[in-house]
Amino acid sequence: MADPTTEEPQITFTQIDVDLDVQEILLAASQHDLAKLRRLVRTQSQLPDAANVKDPETGYSPLHSAIAACEPETDDKANGATSTIDPEVLKSGVETVKLLLQEGAIWNDLDKNNETPGCLARRIGAMELYDLIVDAGVRAEMLMNRLDGYEELSDEDEDEEKEEGEGDEESRIAPQLVDASAEQASTSTDAPANPEVTNRGYLDSNLTIQKDRILDSDQNGVMMEWESEIMRKSAEKLLPTPGLKVLNIGHGMGIVDGFLQEKAPASHHIIEAHAEVVAEMKRRGWDSKPGVVIHEGRWQDILPVLVGNGETFDAIYYDTFAESYADFRDFFSEQVIGLLEQDGKWGFFNGMGADRQISYDVYQKVSEMDIFEAGFDVEWEDIPVPKLEGEWEGVRRAYWVVDNYRLPLCQFMD
Ligand SMILES: C[S@@+](CC[C@H](N)C(=O)[O-])C[C@H]1O[C@@H](n2cnc3c(N)ncnc32)[C@H](O)[C@@H]1O
Repeated sequence: MADPTTEEPQITFTQIDVDLDVQEILLAASQHDLAKLRRLVRTQSQLPDAANVKDPETGYSPLHSAIAACEPETDDKANGATSTIDPEVLKSGVETVKLLLQEGAIWNDLDKNNETPGCLARRIGAMELYDLIVDAGVRAEMLMNRLDGYEELSDEDEDEEKEEGEGDEESRIAPQLVDASAEQASTSTDAPANPEVTNRGYLDSNLTIQKDRILDSDQNGVMMEWESEIMRKSAEKLLPTPGLKVLNIGHGMGIVDGFLQEKAPASHHIIEAHAEVVAEMKRRGWDSKPGVVIHEGRWQDILPVLVGNGETFDAIYYDTFAESYADFRDFFSEQVIGLLEQDGKWGFFNGMGADRQISYDVYQKVSEMDIFEAGFDVEWEDIPVPKLEGEWEGVRRAYWVVDNYRLPLCQFMD
């Protein structure tokens, strides 16, 4: 039997080997040394997930390293000097990023600075690299969404009692693609900031309804007054002329409904599922406004009834809370087709991924592709969002960070 006091410290040596492997991979990535990187990632290193190693100090992954190496060095901003990225360095950076993505590098891993590789690329102005990472994010999210669909299908028999979308819920319809509380960000939409927020849970909870906001029982912002300009523009696009038929899903503070009313619609249907919101809207006289028909309940239950009754609309707006992207996709791919007039328009509150620019960009593309697949064209209009610093006091999470709101307007394809 070996004497424990003289035994070789095997673990320490193994750890040193691992650390060296990690540093070698990160160095090859930062030097854009494709041949070496390919060799290390594919065969030579003993590491199981070599494309996703991390520097213990900076939290850099090989993608971070490859992108950071493109940052121009002489940036004397104090003297007004602007620096541009060397085109040759950028070119080799592009090749390195492509190789790493092919080898399974995670697009939204966070470093110790709370930046994904895409955030880093955007900060240093390497937009070609940023676009590569956005495209990788789109591919990953599309795949995850499809796999979720398959999982739901295969679980159907065993798990009929499971709520639709349960465990896959998120505030508003905003998949948080990057979980800042975790070392490694998740690529899925089921890593919510508020894992306990589900649509059914939210609908059973008590609300705080104030003049400028509605909060749920965990202080999540359900709706806030700063969104008024977005709601005004959405209403204007949806109802360009008086006398049209409109359906709004999710009354909230009644902001968009107020703007829709100003357009004098011939009929104005509102679906609202939270009992406290319904009570408040009645208290404010919404049940006796011209053309208004209130449907109390979830859109999932009410829309099929409207379709069955042959109701159609010139405009439909969707803005709910604590629903997943899968719920939203069901809405536009299953329901809108039966409710929208041939030349009608529909829109939605576009808050998906709005807590980080790259997530917002990824989800714009993901939703656009799914909306096309469902048979609609979508036009986007950028609306600047004012600085919201003081807004989040008393709110659990700032759900809006990006500078511009992208307002969607959808129509049947020609
Ligand atoms: C963000 S607020 C809507 C804000 C509204 N656009 C405005 O201008 O004030 C979301 C609303 O959707 C409602 N809601 C959530 N889930 C719903 C569902 N499944 N069906 C119908 N309404 C729902 C919430 O109770 C809440 O009133």
